[in-house]
This record gives sequence, structure tokens and C-alpha cells, in this order.
Amino acid sequence: MNKKFLVIGNPIEHSLSPKLHNYWIKKNNLKASYDKKLLVQDEIRQLILDVKEEKIHGLNVTVPFKKAVIPFLDILSDEAKKSQSVNTIYKEKNKIVGDNTDIEGFKVGLETTNQVIKNKKAFILGAGGVVPSIIVALKKMQIAKIYLSNRTELKSLEIKKLFPEIEIIEWGKITNFDIIINATSIGLNEKDEINIDYKNISHNKFFYDIIYNPKETSFLRRAKEFGAQIENGKMMFIYQAQRAFFTWHNILPLVDEETVNLLET
Ligand code: ATR
Repeated sequence: MNKKFLVIGNPIEHSLSPKLHNYWIKKNNLKASYDKKLLVQDEIRQLILDVKEEKIHGLNVTVPFKKAVIPFLDILSDEAKKSQSVNTIYKEKNKIVGDNTDIEGFKVGLETTNQVIKNKKAFILGAGGVVPSIIVALKKMQIAKIYLSNRTELKSLEIKKLFPEIEIIEWGKITNFDIIINATSIGLNEKDEINIDYKNISHNKFFYDIIYNPKETSFLRRAKEFGAQIENGKMMFIYQAQRAFFTWHNILPLVDEETVNLLET
């Protein structure tokens, strides 16, 4: 039987998940296909029913539905519960399960940079759907302190409800950090810039952007000019997909140079 998988989101056109999953499906000689689907909120219920009826065998969920799918699921994994965010859905023992592989994706992606995270201070910019996953991952990596700043403070406060230990910083202010993470969507559009006062930041800091397309956002480009170490979100993206693939197919696909290059075009 040809198993059917989908990534749902809105917008979805930019998603590289089909390219990556179909590449691994082919490499592993599986009978499956992976497509993308533009969705509106009202269609979630029907799609989950399709998973229940095994018309669809697995879903990846992206912006803005990672939280919105939760009420339609039977079981959440621990990771999904902690982050209140689901990016991978499947059926197991007649129940629809929501899992979160963004956490492991972020963690393993960051580990590939060889940056030390333990006992360091992180400063997260943004409070969108992916931020709780980043916080859970950083905590697993034994970060000492997490600061968070978002243009809309109310959304920072929502995140603080889940993780009371984080400290909220006013939007536009800089705090003392070792690693700064752009989790806003600023930079998806190449000419948009985050207003950061680089003069007040010392040179041995690590700049990480969740965005991987464009490869170098202005946030990373300016940090590089200024002598900082930088990394984009490509490995996070690849590893969240690798973990989802494992969940569905029980095969951990290889992440090699060819896989990484696949996302270059
Ligand atoms: P969602 O909130 O649906 O999960 P997202 O794309 O994951 O969406 O999150 C977008 C993030 O980028 C938010 O933190 C958003 O800030 P607001 O909460 O204030 O909207 C941030 N963002 C997007 N454009 C921005 C801009 N021009 N200036 C500052 N922050 C911006």
C-alpha cells in the first residue's frame, strides 16, 4: 500500500519538507508519498479524521497550526505537552497521537555547531509557535538562563505562563547573553532588519537564526560582519524531519552532505 503523508500550514508554498521526506522515502525504497497542503483552520477536523481512517498516515504541522491541532488529538507525547506544540501526527493503537520533533531538531541541530550551551545565557527574540520548543530544548541542554523579548509583550507573557523561570526583556532592549536566537519572522523577507544595537554587544557571542531560507538573514549577516559566530536553522529543520521520519517509518534516515545540499536550491 502506498502510504500518504502531508505537511499542513498556511502559507505552505515555501515548505521544503516534501523535498526532504520524498528524498528519504526513495533512498529507503518505501512505498509512500509526501505532499504539502494549504489549510484553513476549519479543515483540521476532517484531516484528523482522514488520519483516523488511514486515508492519511502521518501529518507534519507548521505555522500557524502547531497549537491549533491539539484539541483534535487523542494523546500528546511528553514533548508536545511540555511545549503545547505539535509538529508530527500519526495513528497508534487506534489513537491519534501528537508529537513534537522540533525540540529534538533544535537540540541536535545546535549540537552539530559544537557551541557549549550548558551554563550559558540565551536571549530569544520572538514569541511565536516555535519558541516553547526552543525553550524546552535549551532547558534539556542545561542552559543557565533564558531571556525573551517580543514586540507584542502579551505573547511573551503567555510563554512565561508555560515557563515561569524565563525573564522578559522589553522589545528593543539588549541584555547580557552568550547566545541570541532570532525566532521572529523578520528576515524571511531579505530586506527586513531587526533593530539591534550591535555596538553594545561584545564580540564572542553566538547568533542563531531559526530561518534557513534565505540562508543568511540580515540578522546573521550583520552579526558576521561584526565578528560573531553565526548559524542558521537548516540543521534544526533537517533533524526535526529526521525524527518525524523515524516516528512514521521506524527508520532513522541518514543526514549526509547530499541531504544537506538538497536544501540549497
Ligand atoms: P505565530 O505567532 O503564528 O506562531 P510566527 O511566524 O511563529 O507566528 O511568529 C512570528 C514572530 O515574529 C512573532 O514573535 C512576531 O511578533 P508579534 O508577536 O509582535 O507579532 C514576530 N514579528 C514578525 N514581524 C515582526 C516585526 N516586523 N517586528 C517585530 N516582530 C515581528
